[in-house]
Amino acid sequence: MKVTVFGIGYVGLVQAAVLAEVGHDVMCVDIDETKVANLKKGIIPIFEPGLTPLVKENYEAGRLIFTTDAKQGVAHGEIQFIAVGTPPDEDGSADLKYVTAVARTIAEHMTSYKVIIDKSTVPVGTADKVHEVVSETLKKRQSELSFDVVSNPEFLKEGAAVSDCMKPERIVIGTDNEQVLDLIRELYSPFNRNHDRMVIMDIRSAELTKYAANCMLATKISFMNEMSNLAEMLGADIEKVRQGIGSDSRIGYHFIYPGCGYGGSCFPKDVQALIRTAEHIGYQPELLQAVEAVNARQKHKLFSFVQRHFNGDLKGRTFALWGLAFKPNTDDMRESSSRVLMEALWQAGAKVQAFDPEAMEEAQRIYGNRDDLLLMGTKEATLHNADALIICTEWQNFRAPDFDLIKATLKHPVVFDGRNLYEPERMNQRGFTYYGIGRGASVNPVI
Ligand SMILES: NC(=O)c1ccc[n+]([C@@H]2O[C@H](COP(=O)([O-])OP(=O)(O)OC[C@H]3O[C@@H](n4cnc5c(N)ncnc54)[C@H](O)[C@@H]3O)[C@@H](O)[C@H]2O)c1
Repeated sequence: MKVTVFGIGYVGLVQAAVLAEVGHDVMCVDIDETKVANLKKGIIPIFEPGLTPLVKENYEAGRLIFTTDAKQGVAHGEIQFIAVGTPPDEDGSADLKYVTAVARTIAEHMTSYKVIIDKSTVPVGTADKVHEVVSETLKKRQSELSFDVVSNPEFLKEGAAVSDCMKPERIVIGTDNEQVLDLIRELYSPFNRNHDRMVIMDIRSAELTKYAANCMLATKISFMNEMSNLAEMLGADIEKVRQGIGSDSRIGYHFIYPGCGYGGSCFPKDVQALIRTAEHIGYQPELLQAVEAVNARQKHKLFSFVQRHFNGDLKGRTFALWGLAFKPNTDDMRESSSRVLMEALWQAGAKVQAFDPEAMEEAQRIYGNRDDLLLMGTKEATLHNADALIICTEWQNFRAPDFDLIKATLKHPVVFDGRNLYEPERMNQRGFTYYGIGRGASVNPVI
């Protein structure tokens, strides 16, 4: 099938590559000329396990084409995916200007029937808006061409995006049109062989499903972070509590890890966007507001530990930082906890020597050259002349480091672990002062 994907980001590029891999003819359109030029040279703009060979092979086979020419893109596919960003507006609601721009572009150039599939995460009612934009633009052209708008939210996880798209747990489709549904079934049939993964519903329910999923996951994290703060003050160990509740099959072990807050391009903006949607219609989303507030507080957790440990005297100090990406296996630093921490340390007059296996270029792009940020070639190199070590991302490679070397290199044997990678008792035995999240059993309880 001929498919066009607007937006070559984490979602658009991965989805396009996976669709090409199963044999569809996919054209990707982006307004970012550098990105398109680089992709044609085999330079992949993001780090995502398994993506590079997939893109290269399908590009070379001619099943995956990159262009900035929107007209060519509209002409190519009967199916037109919208996979552009929906960043937060000034008030936190989803900014739909990229989505509506693509809708307008499709309507300006289409010369035949199109199925417009919205894959971006968009507030309930956006499909109606897209419908309106396309209709109005066609009217201006005095065209009577027909089209359909479908909601097909994406659930991929950064860091596992290729396998998530190859073997989706579910394919949510919002449409009330049987013919369109047949077309989409055909498109996704290579991913739907083992059992039926399609969950069909009306458009508004599909749009809300995406927000509900992300808000549920964010809620689990904030809940555990709330528990971790209580554990810390009550002299309990949240890691024991986590296992205690995870063993309940109604709760389960997934997504109940305490830490220094959630980040990324989705949870923070999607929780905020749903809050704004709710407020807009006169509903107070108290739970979602609390989820967001708990997370904002949690992102300052490591800094407050550091400040407490050094009695507020951080000016002129240097900190080794392991992990810049918002989670492992990605180079994405959007809303990452490491940024909140680094910016607070800089504000207090401290320097950061950081290492991340994949996000170094991204950190350089965001912060440029500055005296108080040194990007080091290895995790060990960050330790030289550093007052303490702080961990923000649970990369596999950080789980079993050379503790003797860390202790011998740091000025003070202090570790602030935002992802609970190590056991407090073992760390104390090794001679470290160790701060984990919610590990109150190893410190004096407040009561
Ligand atoms: N990143 C994720 O893990 C993830 C997961 C599920 C859903 N989503 C949602 O998918 C959407 C895309 O997210 P992303 O992370 O891939 O975004 P991204 O920022 O990585 O990529 C968006 C791309 O769209 C391009 N673009 C903007 N306007 C355009 C236009 N008019 N025509 C063509 N291209 C245009 C940009 O240049 C950019 O390359 C968002 O709504 C997001 O919430 C993201």
